[in-house]
This record gives sequence, C-alpha cells and structure tokens, in this order.
Amino acid sequence: MEPLDIGVIVGSLRQGSFNRKLFDNSHALAPEGLVLREIPIRELPLFDQDVLEQHPASVVDYWDAVRKADGILFISPEYNYSVPGVVKNAFDWASRPPDAAAIAGKPAGVLGASSGRSGTMRMQLHMRQILPALNMAVMPKPEVFIMNAADVFDENGDLHDERIRKQLTRFYAAFEPWVRKFTNRDS
Ligand code: FNR
Repeated sequence: MEPLDIGVIVGSLRQGSFNRKLFDNSHALAPEGLVLREIPIRELPLFDQDVLEQHPASVVDYWDAVRKADGILFISPEYNYSVPGVVKNAFDWASRPPDAAAIAGKPAGVLGASSGRSGTMRMQLHMRQILPALNMAVMPKPEVFIMNAADVFDENGDLHDERIRKQLTRFYAAFEPWVRKFTNRDS
C-alpha cells in the first residue's frame, strides 16, 4: 500500500514550541502508511485580497504544498480560547480561489498541546466549526488533548508520557484509514 502524504501545519512559530515537539515526536508514533511533512506557514503574508491578486511566491508555494497532500493535520496551541491568528491566516489563504481552493475536500485531523489544563479543547472545537467552510472533513475521534505540556516532554524534547504516547498512537492509527477513505489510493 502506498504511504499517504500528510501535510502538517504547526500552529506555533516560537522556538521551543510544545506543539512543534509534538510534531517532531509524531514521526515515530505514526504508522508506516503515514508520511508527515510540514507545510510551513511562517512566510505567508497577512491575508489581503489585493495581495492575493498578485499571487506572491510564498502563497503559491503554500498552495502547491497543500495540493500535494492527501490529508492535512493541524497541530496547534490554543490562543485566547481559539485558533491562533497564524493558523486562521493559513486557512484564509488556503480557501482561495474559492472555486479551486487547494485544500477543499481534503480530510483533516487536529491535535494540540497547551500549557494549561484545557489541552486546546476550545481551539479544537473552533477548528471543527471553521474547517467545513473549506469543505474539509475533520476526523471526529479519537480526540487528544495534551494539557500541562511542560510536564510531558523531557529536556531533549522527547515525549516521555506513556499515556499520551498511547493516545497519539491510537490517533494516528485511526487517521490513516480516515484519510484513505478520501483518496483514490488502494487500501
Ligand atoms: C496562550 N495560552 C493559552 N493556553 C490555553 O490553554 N488557552 C488559551 O486560551 C491560551 N491563550 C493564550 C494566548 C496567547 C497569546 C499565548 C501566547 C498563550 C498558553 C499556551 O497554551 C502556551 O503558551 C503554549 O505553550 C503555546 O504553545 P507552544 O507555543 O508551546 O506550541
């Protein structure tokens, strides 16, 4: 079976991000049938319809990276009870042009880690409200909410919490068949 190409959007730009650590640890937790590849969003300008008409190189590269992916995974913090602005900006760019949006119809997954106790629950709920606007189907379950993120990774950035490792293994095991449902690849 051909592996699936999963485009991963990491919703935190900071060095030392727990969500980036979550992404880094995910390669070893995902089954062989999922290849996780980051889609960078740092270079995207703030969304502006005038800029859209100029088709900047950073946006065209982003669209190409999104188009290639069989599915999209968002690994993001929660900011002020919602989706970080950089992620919403990435959604808005991905949604254009509306009749040929690169992201439309792709299956999606969402994961997140927060330093507090909510584990990005409110961010994930908001994401589930927004993504249908892009005609994306978000895997309903299993959900993974990583709270107290500072206690979950060791000084090398390794995810040492066995309970969370198991939850993530289950998440990725379910994500592969979820994405295959939407692709033309043999299953
Ligand atoms: C936060 N944080 C946060 N945490 C949370 O659980 N709910 C929230 O609403 C917010 N809001 C929020 C807003 C802003 C502007 C910042 C900078 C932070 C804390 C957040 O979980 C924490 O900073 C994480 O470490 C961010 O993820 P990364 O950057 O480590 O991946």
